[in-house]
Amino acid sequence: MEQIFSGIQPTGNLHLGNYLGAIRNFVALQDSYECIYCIVDLHAITQWQEPDELRRNTREVTAAFIASGIDPAKNVIFHQSGNPNHAELAWIFNCVARLGWLNRMTQFKDKVGKNREAASVGLYAYPNLMAADILAYKATHVPVGEDQKQHLELCRDIAQKFNNDFKIDLFPLIEPLILGPATRVMSLRDGAAKMSKSDPSDNSRINLTDDSDAIAKKFRRARTDPDALPSEPGGLEGRPEAANLVGIYAALSGCTVPDALRDIGGMQFSQFKPRLAEIAVAVLGPIGAEMQRLMADTAYIDTVLRDGAARARALSEPVLAQVFDVVGFVRS
Ligand code: TYM
Repeated sequence: MEQIFSGIQPTGNLHLGNYLGAIRNFVALQDSYECIYCIVDLHAITQWQEPDELRRNTREVTAAFIASGIDPAKNVIFHQSGNPNHAELAWIFNCVARLGWLNRMTQFKDKVGKNREAASVGLYAYPNLMAADILAYKATHVPVGEDQKQHLELCRDIAQKFNNDFKIDLFPLIEPLILGPATRVMSLRDGAAKMSKSDPSDNSRINLTDDSDAIAKKFRRARTDPDALPSEPGGLEGRPEAANLVGIYAALSGCTVPDALRDIGGMQFSQFKPRLAEIAVAVLGPIGAEMQRLMADTAYIDTVLRDGAARARALSEPVLAQVFDVVGFVRS
């Protein structure tokens, strides 16, 4: 049976990249599959989080899921710390994954830069916990943006090594689902950098909670080149900022890049940017407003998380029991 699992870190500033690369696909998948969507607070604390901010951000991601159209009755929405099975399985995977595998993780290298000695052990072992998130449910398909691809390859390696070591076909080899024309949304200030929650410049990203003025202003200020938009995708080569804005436009319009260019090819940026802002406001405006409304109802959000966590535990407990048995732990 196909099982969808994905997660988002509650580290603030949810942005258009998170929406187009992940959340929007989560919404679409719920029509065909049972889905489990997790707010990964254990992952968040691999870097320092203010406790009150972490709680607020956990509720905000939950609100974003619901406001974007994920039905909490049909899907399991919960916070990672609400199901201890993730951390338990992660420990077992710490003993399966090899140091050499983790040393190759580019996200770890990017995050720590030259300051490797000061990084938390948790940040280093981050991908093992991610594999545990997924495999605690024997999930088979994982919708993510392109930046998570290497982590998902590691998840396959862990599953395969566990299966080989214990000579059992217990864990599936997962498939990443990297969908749509905006799987890697770039910064509005730099076409070579990913749009990110942690970029110090708020102008680099469109936040899901930005109002229409902020959205219009950020697109107006977005970096571009002096040429008009091409009418064929080939004309975007070597123009990363233009390619990024066209990809965003296509994704927000629900069409492909070639289709979008048939419509907007030949336009100057001065003409295109207000059009892009208009469609972004039409898509994000109602989501931002609903997020604000939900955020005012903490009791409701917490009920969703509590209920989701109980359902998640019920799903992962049989898998953990099987794993404990296979590993050789005495049943208590
Ligand atoms: P996180 O919180 O950084 O991002 C959440 C999702 O948003 C996608 N994303 C993007 N997509 C397109 N363009 C961008 N600029 C962009 N930035 C972020 C990410 O690819 C992701 O899908 N390690 C994960 C969280 C995680 C997880 C998991 C995911 C923990 N356990 C298990 C899947 C399965 C992360 O940090 O995502």
